[in-house]
Amino acid sequence: MDASFLFLLLILAGAVSATDDDCKFRQFPDTSSFVCECSSSHCDVIEEYSLSDENFVVYTSGKRGFRLDKEEMPIRNRPTPIVPDTSITIRIDRSEEYQTILGFGGSFTDAAALNLYNLTSDVQEKLLRAYFSTDGIEYSFGRVPIASCDFSTRAYSYAETPDDFYLEDFQLAFEDIDYKIPMIKRASAMSSRPIKLLGSAWSAPGWMKTSGAMQGGGPLRGMPGGYYYKTWALYLAKFVEAYSGYDIPFWGLTGGNEPSAGAFPNWAWQAMFFSPSLQRDFIKLDLGPILHERGHKELQITILDDQRFLLPRWAEVVLEDPIASQFVTGIGIHWYWDDFVDPSRLNATHHAYPDYFMLGTEACEGHLDREEEVILGSWERGEAYSFNIIEDLGNWVAGWIDWNLALNMIGGPNWVGNFVDSPIIVNAEEDVFYKQPMYYHLGHFSKFITPGSVRVGSSSDRERLVEHLAFKLPDGDMALVVLNRKEFTFPLHIYDPDVGYLNAEIPSRSIQTYLWKSPSNL
Ligand SMILES: *[C@@H]1O[C@H](CO)[C@@H](O)[C@H](O)[C@H]1NC(C)=O
Ligand SMILES: *[C@@H]1O[C@H](CO)[C@@H](O)[C@H](O)[C@H]1NC(C)=O
Repeated sequence: MDASFLFLLLILAGAVSATDDDCKFRQFPDTSSFVCECSSSHCDVIEEYSLSDENFVVYTSGKRGFRLDKEEMPIRNRPTPIVPDTSITIRIDRSEEYQTILGFGGSFTDAAALNLYNLTSDVQEKLLRAYFSTDGIEYSFGRVPIASCDFSTRAYSYAETPDDFYLEDFQLAFEDIDYKIPMIKRASAMSSRPIKLLGSAWSAPGWMKTSGAMQGGGPLRGMPGGYYYKTWALYLAKFVEAYSGYDIPFWGLTGGNEPSAGAFPNWAWQAMFFSPSLQRDFIKLDLGPILHERGHKELQITILDDQRFLLPRWAEVVLEDPIASQFVTGIGIHWYWDDFVDPSRLNATHHAYPDYFMLGTEACEGHLDREEEVILGSWERGEAYSFNIIEDLGNWVAGWIDWNLALNMIGGPNWVGNFVDSPIIVNAEEDVFYKQPMYYHLGHFSKFITPGSVRVGSSSDRERLVEHLAFKLPDGDMALVVLNRKEFTFPLHIYDPDVGYLNAEIPSRSIQTYLWKSPSNL
């Protein structure tokens, strides 16, 4: 008798209860870990928690098992003695306060929507719930490409009539109306948190650029303050207005996706060049004034939207200007070169410009030529996500937005073949989707570290063994995320001087989120 048949008999006999909420493990050949498969009949759901005075809660995901699995344990007044002592003590210091968290999320690309709609409606619902509902990891941010990017099936803009400087022919594309808008509406309706939408444009229509084409780099024609720059600012305003016509308000706009890529005339997909001084003057002379005139001064204007290595210089050029700096509220950062650029640049940028938030606005795995685009079940890619989030948030970054919410089995569609990985991969042929380790690593933050949380101090007696970050949640409760990239399991003593000891264990190659009541809530 095979084991699964035995298990089935035991279920029928009532001896074990297989809950509908568990991960349906699926291991693909030659990958380090597994994915959780979701279909019309099954999808794992994250168990809710509630805190008491005596107990703490810990959620665990690991390379060898567990996907946001919950456990409840008693709070003690001393550490559990361990002989020999291989334990790590992490001490919480709630008096040391850092940045307020804005949130976490992913991107409503054309590709994500096409993959969503390639599933039957029950499975679509499960995919959206996995990201936005209390069943899932409760994203609070959505980045939205303004017109096309590489993760579209064609290059298109909203203003294809040459010399239409007043944008009388401006109109959204069918990709907005049929794909992105319905997807955003469904996500918002099932979310218990408002979803902050951040618009980001890859390129202006060709007629506005010196190159004459959306594809490839190049700047707008003329200079800031001139016709083309004004028309481009109007285009961004009209985009926000068109979405608000569908009852979709935007939280913010970036100055443009990866303006440094626009320096390369032969860039493979849509790109548009701004130097820091062009971006400064565009915001000062065109974008800021036009958004204010048209009643959008509440929009959060995020500069950079590009790689970490451009800081702090980019911020200096824009934010030292007394007028441009008044229109700007934040700095957007992409993760692509982070392996080569020390995070101290983020800390330095924060200390020079403490009034501006920093926000991770794009990240994905599988983007390098030598890499496989999609790896189903890569634990390392999950670790790369959580390590980067901890590094960013440990250096004053206030949130982190992932790239495509969902891609297909080859990491697309993408009209120039720039395929990459995603936390959710859709297998439309089988009408299922796979929740990758990256999804759970992100969820250890997005679900628990609600917008409005404040990062507080945490320190360990053995600093190089695990990464950790502590937060005070908006309701006053406490959270600690711990990442263990080592092949060893460590006993953990989490010491909150006002509460006591949370004695637990972190398995090898795993990530945990601890939650407990703070004394003011006791
Ligand atoms: C962050 O920057 C400040 C100001 O430059 C400096 O005093 C501090 O030591 C830096 N902290 C870290 C962790 O690098
Ligand atoms: C939708 O699914 C079919 C197979 O069922 C596939 O051939 C097609 O490429 C998928 N579309 C996208 C956008 O991936």
